[in-house]
Amino acid sequence: MIGIFDSGVGGLSVFREILKLLPEERYIYWSDNAHCPYGEKTREYIIDRAREITSFMIGQGAEIIVVACNTATAAAISTLREEFDIPFIGMEPAVKPAAQATRSGVVGVLATAGTLKATKYIDTRAKWAQDVRIEEHIGQGFVELVESGKVTGEEAEAVVERSIRPLIEAGADTIVLGCTHYPFLSETIRKIAGDSVTLIDPAPAVARHLEEVMKEKGLIHKNGFSMSLHSSGSISTLEKLYKTL
Ligand code: DGL
Repeated sequence: MIGIFDSGVGGLSVFREILKLLPEERYIYWSDNAHCPYGEKTREYIIDRAREITSFMIGQGAEIIVVACNTATAAAISTLREEFDIPFIGMEPAVKPAAQATRSGVVGVLATAGTLKATKYIDTRAKWAQDVRIEEHIGQGFVELVESGKVTGEEAEAVVERSIRPLIEAGADTIVLGCTHYPFLSETIRKIAGDSVTLIDPAPAVARHLEEVMKEKGLIHKNGFSMSLHSSGSISTLEKLYKTL
């Protein structure tokens, strides 16, 4: 069984890519929406949440866990790997493919405050973005929009505009979606950024990596698809969004 968790529904943007490659596995998904957003929380807080969710999912039968959250990966994945004896697959802003894709030489990175200040991201940026300029912006209010199901329309556009406009004005032609909630806002982001801007979502690459690790460790069972949805708060947005995948 594959466990997937996020601070909320954002991890479903990763799950939909995983499902394309591994359609016959059993899944358990945890939306930690009673504690969402993670973006402004301390590292210790996120580690505690990640530990509790991991214990729960292992108790339910998870043999591998996808930390489908950039913020939680940055804060907690190394602790999880130390404390639990199963494989963990994490997320991080896709700076490398973005640096290769940009023609203007300016890459926009949209992520949470927690991700942008984490050593993991700072190291990745230093390694892969030497020849390009990186413009960073917190997707202020993006997670709240997705959690409330308002991904298009006037309110969504006004919120998205505030974080996207500075990146476009700085010359970014490639934008990294460095939070798993943001792909659900792609339509609105495109409307503001224009069709010539490339949006980079690491989810397909993460799904491929998960498949490789599962093959290597003999964890692919093909026993038939099942999904068990869980949430620490209200489950309605999760169930609603899940049905649209
Ligand atoms: N979806 C998460 C991420 O990838 C976290 C968003 C949040 O809770 O702030 O970073």
